[in-house]
Amino acid sequence: MALERTFSILKPDCTRRNLTGAVNAMIEAAGLRIVAQKRVHMTQAQAETFYAVHSERPFFGELVEFMTSAPVVVQVLEGDNAVLAYRTVMGATNPANADEGTIRKVHAVSMGENTVHGSDSVENAAIEIAQFFSGNEIVG
Ligand code: CMP
Repeated sequence: MALERTFSILKPDCTRRNLTGAVNAMIEAAGLRIVAQKRVHMTQAQAETFYAVHSERPFFGELVEFMTSAPVVVQVLEGDNAVLAYRTVMGATNPANADEGTIRKVHAVSMGENTVHGSDSVENAAIEIAQFFSGNEIVG
């Protein structure tokens, strides 16, 4: 088993409904450790940079608008195979396709308002973590 770190966002639909504790409980129950966490209100520039890979997609404007509409909680999660472990407990992007018991099945509102983001690879996790945390803010 490889000890990994992944990057997580508890999205505006999560903070608005006061669900950050409920989602953190699901994260911890999945064996992941929250080794860094802070609440931020993303600027448009931060959201556009973070989601730059989607800049040509038709939903990009809506995505940036949503992610800047309320505070989010950004996190670094650590654990065995953390990238896959978190994606498994998050569930599918579209909550209609998410497995029972996953965060998105339980809490997500829609494809856009899907409660959480998690990195899709160890490489992207490192890039995403660096956009929000400096090394001394991550305490494993
Ligand atoms: P996330 O994992 O944060 O990465 C990109 C986000 O775009 C995704 O979750 C969804 O919340 C959002 N999104 C909105 N519409 C779509 C769509 N049609 N296809 C994929 N992602 C979408």
